[in-house]
Amino acid sequence: MGRDLTRRGLLVGGAVAAGSTLAATGGYLAAPRPDERPGAPAAPAAEPFHGRHQAGIATGPQTHAVFLGLDLRPGTDREALGRLMRILTDDARRLTEGEAGLADAQPELAGVPARLTVTFGFGPALFTAAGLERLRPPIELPTFRIDRLQDRWSGGDLLVQLCSDDSVTLAHALRLIAKDARAFATVRWTQRGFRRPPTSQPAGQTQRNLMGQLDGTVQPTDLDKSVWIDDGPEWLRGGTLMVLRRIHMNLEKWDEADEAAKEFSIGRRLADGAPLTGRHEHDEPDFAAKDRIGFSVIHDAAHIRLARNHDPAQRMLRRSYNYDENVGPDGVTDTGLLFVSYQADLARQFIPVQQRLADADLLNAWTTPIGSAVFALPPGCTPSTWIGETLLA
Ligand code: HEM
Repeated sequence: MGRDLTRRGLLVGGAVAAGSTLAATGGYLAAPRPDERPGAPAAPAAEPFHGRHQAGIATGPQTHAVFLGLDLRPGTDREALGRLMRILTDDARRLTEGEAGLADAQPELAGVPARLTVTFGFGPALFTAAGLERLRPPIELPTFRIDRLQDRWSGGDLLVQLCSDDSVTLAHALRLIAKDARAFATVRWTQRGFRRPPTSQPAGQTQRNLMGQLDGTVQPTDLDKSVWIDDGPEWLRGGTLMVLRRIHMNLEKWDEADEAAKEFSIGRRLADGAPLTGRHEHDEPDFAAKDRIGFSVIHDAAHIRLARNHDPAQRMLRRSYNYDENVGPDGVTDTGLLFVSYQADLARQFIPVQQRLADADLLNAWTTPIGSAVFALPPGCTPSTWIGETLLA
């Protein structure tokens, strides 16, 4: 064996260079215990992992997110998928509770969960690979007129959504999960997003997207009716359906619009997010209101008019993240929205809204969907079961 990469080998081999340090620590460079870390929070915030629903859906959005889209390797059948999901559930359970994973090479990074959540979803082809097509819920979207979808941001057999308030925690969790999935699946895409941290803006206040708008004002009132599935295939009860759309923003063009045009396109004010017919963010928009010459105050093609589902119980839950990748040689940023919605039924909730937006939304002048993926998210698990067991066991 050439180089000894065991701890003993490194300690012995590195002893010449680091002789004095090793002598001072008795030859063992121990990681500080969590309670010894400088500035460590008294009780590192952990989101509960177990429950009827998976965490990371109704959970208040964390600051950082990474969405991993995986394609199953040929031969990853139902039995192999079961093994994979047992391993990944174990990783997720440990990491979200602030413990190192079983095969964790950096256990010292595990002590700060920072509200880490790890959420799993199944794409259309997973059901074929598992020989379980008959149990696949409707998770296909039609093609929309505005779509300019790229393969590198679309599709996927298995979704892992990781969210945390700490990007070091997230990097560590992502690495462990990606490593453990390697033998079963290849990575199709990785999409990273961010929001303002709780140190910048109190949780619960509507955040701004990178066009500057308050985004996320109107949400469903009853998640049991709008998000969690309670009929259809038994295995999916307590789960939900997720849509992830990567939407590019043409901010250079948006910069050319004046404030009135920007507000007109959405139907809300930029300053406070109030509807153009109201005074406060949460005022009910008056879609019938006309101006002095008889035009609708909220334009017929304004985003909020077309996106509205008038039955509050049927609204989708939006939990979107901003993205901002490298700046091009021309100095133009690659910016947009990872639009994420959770709903019980695509045909009833997502598709009609997206269809109306695709056909007429004024916002389409500045935004282009370049990625699209849909997943069925199984229910949560208990300490003795695993995510996906209801389908794969
Ligand atoms: C980059 C793309 C998008 C931007 C910048 C954007 C922005 C906004 C803004 C500023 C609002 C008003 C505040 C609020 O209630 O959140 C809004 C509302 C909404 N948007 Fe979008 N949105 C985008 C894409 C989408 C997509 C793809 C869908 C679904 C297919 C969607 C569905 C909704 C819904 C359901 C509402 C609430 C409408 C209501 O009932 O008042 N949005 N969006």
